[in-house]
Amino acid sequence: MKKLFHRAYHYLLHSFSAKTLHGTHSPFVYDYLEQVVYNPYPFYVFDIIESLRAQLLLNQNIVYINDFGTGISKKKKVFTIANKSLKPAKQAQLLFKTVNHFKSIEIIELGTSLGITSMYLSKTSKKSFLNTFEGSEEVAKIAEQNFRKFKENNINIHIGNINETLPKYLNSTEKIDFVLFDANHTYKATLNYFNWCLSKSNENTIFVFDDIYWSPEMTKAWNEIKNNSKVTMSIDFYHLGIIFFKTVHEKQHFKIKLK
Ligand SMILES: C[S@@+](CC[C@H](N)C(=O)[O-])C[C@H]1O[C@@H](n2cnc3c(N)ncnc32)[C@H](O)[C@@H]1O
Repeated sequence: MKKLFHRAYHYLLHSFSAKTLHGTHSPFVYDYLEQVVYNPYPFYVFDIIESLRAQLLLNQNIVYINDFGTGISKKKKVFTIANKSLKPAKQAQLLFKTVNHFKSIEIIELGTSLGITSMYLSKTSKKSFLNTFEGSEEVAKIAEQNFRKFKENNINIHIGNINETLPKYLNSTEKIDFVLFDANHTYKATLNYFNWCLSKSNENTIFVFDDIYWSPEMTKAWNEIKNNSKVTMSIDFYHLGIIFFKTVHEKQHFKIKLK
């Protein structure tokens, strides 16, 4: 109940205060909104990926999923995961267009699930590479099948608890360009993931946080993250929050309508 009220309250607040293109005075944000967020033109890969989502939405198979909070595994039908856990097409396509616009090469996704958003993140360029992280083995296997079906050879899936797999991966990498944080939606995990990834960020890195108003603790994490001294700009789209590390004169926070 507390979470539902929290989401509804912030949804209303966002609807009243969020701006569109014309209320935005930052040239950087204006360009991003005009060329990416409100650009209505689809890319040819969108239909291909969405046809795969449609197949998953009909899949009645049962998989075991691990709950990293309780340590207990639960049974779920694939179509329920496809329906409830994946980023909707509009948001996943915004991520594709963002990665494409900023030419991100080294991309990380925390929380692969069935691999739909992974495909969007990996499809912008032959030069880019996606490292995606998933803890539920049976779910990860379906994602791997999907990657094979679409002959994806620029995705590496790390299976296991992100608390172990992410630090290990980060130790072996020099830099990251783009991270989608979409795994464990608790305050502690979100802050940990942020701080670990921050160590490999630079002024061109972009971090995207999913479900920033999903619970009071996610909003607390989002507020702390956007106020971190290294963050120079944030854009709050209600469902997603994006942060930038670019050199700017003054730190700025924007609330923007996705339309
Ligand atoms: C919301 S889903 C990800 C959806 C996906 N990004 C998409 O849009 O297609 C979150 C996933 O994170 C995984 N997850 C949550 N906590 C995790 C952890 N500590 N380690 C590994 N995976 C975790 C869950 O198993 C789940 O599949």
